[in-house]
Amino acid sequence: MKVSFKELGLVNTREMFAKAVKGGYAIPAFNFNNMEQLQAIIQASAETKSPVILQVSKGARNYANQTLLRYMAQGAVEYAKELGWKKPQIVLHLDHGDSYELCKSCVDFGFSSVMIDASSLPYDENVKLTRKVVNYAHKYDVTVEAELGVLAGVEDEVSSEVSHYTKPEEVIDFVKKTKCDSLAISIGTSHGAYKFTPEQCTRDPQTGRLVPPPLAFDVLKAIEKKLPGFPIVLHGSSSVPQEYVDMCNKYGGKLPNAVGIPEEQLRKAAKSAVCKINIDSDSRLAMTGAIRKHLAENPGHFDPRQYLKPAREEMKKMYVHKIINVLGSNGKAR
Ligand code: G3H
Ligand code: 13P
Ligand code: ZN
Repeated sequence: MKVSFKELGLVNTREMFAKAVKGGYAIPAFNFNNMEQLQAIIQASAETKSPVILQVSKGARNYANQTLLRYMAQGAVEYAKELGWKKPQIVLHLDHGDSYELCKSCVDFGFSSVMIDASSLPYDENVKLTRKVVNYAHKYDVTVEAELGVLAGVEDEVSSEVSHYTKPEEVIDFVKKTKCDSLAISIGTSHGAYKFTPEQCTRDPQTGRLVPPPLAFDVLKAIEKKLPGFPIVLHGSSSVPQEYVDMCNKYGGKLPNAVGIPEEQLRKAAKSAVCKINIDSDSRLAMTGAIRKHLAENPGHFDPRQYLKPAREEMKKMYVHKIINVLGSNGKAR
């Protein structure tokens, strides 16, 4: 049986993106796979009164089950109200949808937003598939994110190679033909905790830390010029906080040379047409760091609540920090 996201108390991205672009801030898009992550996201959003996008990836669906995740998101709306957030603005979004069938099933199942990621297909096929998803989703007022350009993978020799970037000359035609509501672009971000190889970075002489190459703000500017006011999305935007990498490594982890996107660059992007910033890896690092620390310091503990509670607190702290200091979305959903 079909259910509309509206019946679940969720919202789509249309209005929140329009406000974010105008207001010079970005909406956080946090991935979740389990209850503790979801609790931390909702607690942080409710406390800061920030609109929020809950993202469900293919990996999350395989891990936790799509049905369960959707009911959890539905429950999250009620939980947010319980926390005193009178008008929660929560989006349930399919992250990196890879087929029409999957996007359709999410629309039918109460998602308020879907991403069709056909960026690895040739341009015309990307247009065709995206348009098909948009045609279906818009019937139900579900918003659609599409992608143009290819995000670099950790395996790439040169992840900032210009050929990966979104081509500004294609964006007008793509948006016109597909009628997508937002566009994910490639300007040098990538997924995971190893966004750049040490060879691509320089080293801070004082700390010895890796300093990644800057994002291609010139490409972002050129895209903004072509599509004034159109919502732009940045994937792969974890900053890979060194404190969490250090915490993991200090307590038995092995994450050598993990490096992300510096927060100042994300803050700069958030002030532009970038109105959705995707963060997943930072939550993984916060959770794993806190669990490792807790178990190392308390070898006798075996009740998962004992180590998941500090992990949840660490994630919440991290989400609040991102909302206030990086995205600037605090107070935008009162
Ligand atoms: O875009 C990728 C997200 O970080 C989700 O990753 O497929 O491992 O859940 P995942
Ligand atoms: P990170 O791996 O940088 O957190 O990116 C997440 C993402 O883009 C989800 O779609
Ligand atoms: Zn992504």
